[in-house]
Amino acid sequence: MGAEDERRYSRSRELLARASQWLPQGVSSPFRARAPVPLYIAEAAGCRITDVDGNEYLDYGLAWGPLILGHRHPRLVEAVRAQADRPHTLGAQHELEPLVAEQICRIVPCAERVCFTSSGTEAVQLALRLARAHTRRRLVLKFEGHYHGWVDTILLSHHPSVDAVGDPDDPAVVPESAGQVPNAAENVVVRRWNDVDTLEAAFRKHPGEIAAVVMEAVLCNSGCLLPREGYLGAVRDLCDTHGALLIFDEIITGFRVALPGAQGRYGVTPDLATFGKAIGGGLPLSVVTGRAEVMELVGRGVSFGGTFNGNPLSLAGAHATLTELEREGGAPLFEANRLGERLREGIQQRADARGIALRVTGFGAAFALHFTPRRELTHYRDTLDDDEAQLQRFMRLALSEGVSMVADGRFYMSVVHGKDDVRETLERVDSVLDQMGGESGR
Ligand SMILES: Cc1ncc(COP(=O)(O)O)c(C=O)c1O
Repeated sequence: MGAEDERRYSRSRELLARASQWLPQGVSSPFRARAPVPLYIAEAAGCRITDVDGNEYLDYGLAWGPLILGHRHPRLVEAVRAQADRPHTLGAQHELEPLVAEQICRIVPCAERVCFTSSGTEAVQLALRLARAHTRRRLVLKFEGHYHGWVDTILLSHHPSVDAVGDPDDPAVVPESAGQVPNAAENVVVRRWNDVDTLEAAFRKHPGEIAAVVMEAVLCNSGCLLPREGYLGAVRDLCDTHGALLIFDEIITGFRVALPGAQGRYGVTPDLATFGKAIGGGLPLSVVTGRAEVMELVGRGVSFGGTFNGNPLSLAGAHATLTELEREGGAPLFEANRLGERLREGIQQRADARGIALRVTGFGAAFALHFTPRRELTHYRDTLDDDEAQLQRFMRLALSEGVSMVADGRFYMSVVHGKDDVRETLERVDSVLDQMGGESGR
């Protein structure tokens, strides 16, 4: 960090040093320590945030995704404020539960029943348990580069190193954390995403053993890679042929790519889906939903619990968020994606015009930067050539120009980013790319 940056972020740096005495790495989630400068935020409204040093940013990080309505959307604030004067948590039933569950079943194609949980990690655990119980099979197939939470059972091959990935057609199942039980890997098969043949081969190799195929239907956690045309439908068919359930982890795509999620956007209905992040609009909430036949196993053989399940404050937030997103047949998300696409394309064009080897992949409301000579990226291994140093340089310069994003180079749009914000952002990106200049890895 240069002297100018030290001055610019001095209060944030001071607070981080202080926090580091009590919190590991000074942060509440280690992913946050990866930001080029772990900022302390003082104020936030709409799509803008201000840090404790008084620097202002156009915010494309959106708290890693939840803030689909931006910061402190008036309808969300009103709903949560009203609920704050009512019970905060009950450990019993209340009227918001059927209200929000019904809303989800109206919006999401696969949704016939709903379970409320608090974090995405938890929701995925329940979905996997349901799939194993329903099929009476042990193995779960996941894909390289996909993230489904941090617990032992599934924190496997999220971002394996080049040395660890193994055979492209039969990848290694790579644990991602020290202290993880080694035999977690025995219950999981890993494959390359976006490739029907390798999936088919996995079903042949493990006949009658795979309970479920779980995936991010758009690979947001490895730089927002899109499914190839027809891929999701082919996976659906393979799951049906081999008696496995299909689980879409929509914790990022849900209430972001389109109102009915990736399943609605691509017209492929999974058996189960998980939602999180945006569903609560910023309050902690996640959901497992899907076919009644599978979901009804909950409490009838399949155990799960949670003190905060169905928390009224979170459900008030979800009700306000979904109601806002449902306006005019889903117009707010449609518009966020349209404007986001303009931003995505604008960044791509500006890099192309300067001969900078950059690919901006994804969809309007979630896209990511890859500094790579590759013209196309289709699965995790394609991202292993990304120039991480260039990305860090871009993010640091972007911060100093007043543009913040997710610490891995992702941009999230909210429904309150407007066309003037996009224009202003592109001007700032111009300045960033000018500063990156000829050293940008042509
Ligand atoms: C696709 C996906 N699944 C699951 C999770 C885990 O969610 P949480 O961080 O709420 O536990 C995440 C978090 O980023 C995610 O992106």
